[in-house]
Formats: sequence, C-alpha cells, structure tokens
Amino acid sequence: MHKALILSDVMVYSQDAVIKSLSVLSKKQTAGGLNRDPLQNSLCLVDATAGNGYDSLFMANALNKLNYDKSVLVHAFDVQEQALKNTEQRLKDAACLERVCLHLKSHSLILEALSAKFLSQDQKQFESFIGVAMFNLGFLPRSDKCIITKEETTLSALKQLCFGFNLNLEANKTEKNIPLIVCNGLISIHCYAGHEGGELETEAVLKYVKSLDSRIWKVFLYEELNKYRNRELLILIERLI
Ligand SMILES: C[S@@+](CC[C@H](N)C(=O)[O-])C[C@H]1O[C@@H](n2cnc3c(N)ncnc32)[C@H](O)[C@@H]1O
Repeated sequence: MHKALILSDVMVYSQDAVIKSLSVLSKKQTAGGLNRDPLQNSLCLVDATAGNGYDSLFMANALNKLNYDKSVLVHAFDVQEQALKNTEQRLKDAACLERVCLHLKSHSLILEALSAKFLSQDQKQFESFIGVAMFNLGFLPRSDKCIITKEETTLSALKQLCFGFNLNLEANKTEKNIPLIVCNGLISIHCYAGHEGGELETEAVLKYVKSLDSRIWKVFLYEELNKYRNRELLILIERLI
C-alpha cells in the first residue's frame, strides 16, 4: 500500500480541509523517493481509536483493494462499547467485517492485546508487525464528550508502537527496543486542540514526536496555520530503518 493511497483515502473519509491537502504532501514524498510500501512485512494494521469505524473501513477497504492476504487484519481499539458497535455495523454494511478484529480496550494496552497473536514464544525471534497505526484523537462525534483520548494513554500507545518490545540480549547485557511498527511503516495522528483537554494532549504528542530519533523516524506535521479556533493537526511518522 502506498502513502499516496493511504492519504488520498484518508482525505475521502474525513472530508476535512486539513487532510485533503495532505495529498499534496504525499505526492511530494513520492517524488522524493520515500514512497515505500508500509505494508511490506506487516502482519496487521491498527485503528487506535475506532469511533464510528470510518478509519477501520478505510484500512479494510485498502487491504481488500490491494488483495492482501486474508490473514492481514485491522485491529480496532476503543474504550466505548457503542463505538465498537458502530464500527462493526459500518464494516458489516460494507461487507468488510472479516477484515477487522475489534478490541474493547484502551490503545494503551496494544502490546498486551496483540502480543499473543504476533510474538513467538522465543522472544529473540521478535519482529515488528504493524504496518500502519491511525489515531483520530478526541471524542466520539455526537456522543459523550467526557470520554476523550488522554495524554497519558495516547503517549503510552505511541511509545509502545515506537519502542514496543524490549529485547534483553543476555549475552552482552545490552537492551534493544524493537518498534511494533515495521520498517517503512506509518503512524498517523489527527490531534484536536479545541475541546477541553485537547490542547494539553496535542502539546504532549508534539513534544513526544519531536523527541524521536531522526535517524529512525521521519516526523511530518501538517497544520492549517491560519485556523485559529479549534486547531487541528495531522502528524505522520514514518519508520525509516
Ligand atoms: C474522534 S473519535 C475516533 C473517530 C474514528 N477514528 C472514526 O473513524 O470514526 C475518538 C475515539 O477515541 C476513543 N477513545 C478514547 N480514549 C481511548 C483509548 N484510551 N483507547 C482507545 N480509544 C479511545 C473514543 O471513545 C472515541 O470513540
């Protein structure tokens, strides 16, 4: 799957001017030779905030369109039962339900939730397995605005994706962290600063992604700079090596 495809499909689901413009950015990346396949070597995709299921559907559709093996699934997380019901219905209506595995739990439990499926018993064999992880932060539209993504759990999930698995190399006593995201894989984070708590979370995410090692991670920020109310940002993180 190519970034251009990911981003142009994101554009369709969100109908959001900020993301629409990303197709321009993705074409530039393509021209710059960064357009590698984030799904190569990946065993699954993650929708970290399932909500109404638009992102899960987008990813499931992309997998189907590109004829990915049926075993490659979208793992969708949400803390609200209603969100997972909405996601399930959306996927059922689109005849894509078999491409998705729903998890009624916080994305901060991502490693625990997926490790049984993807980690071998011999942890030295551990390999990264997630091709794309999408976060659409904030609250479920037309629902309880008190249930929002929070700085602590969002950062915990991001840290697991970037430094997920700790391989303790006993022989020389050095520790090695292996990201859950595969090489050339992507994390996209749509942040909203307009609601209560949103600004804190946005700033925390920005601080965290800026701290990532630039030899390993390429971090893009896309923002409509003259939108002064209800600020929104789209952050894209690509694993380079
Ligand atoms: C903006 S909505 C997501 C919209 C969704 N991506 C879509 O395509 O419809 C944010 C969602 O994050 C969920 N959420 C809040 N905290 C969470 C957490 N710790 N783990 C997973 N989901 C969470 C909310 O319940 C809400 O459904």
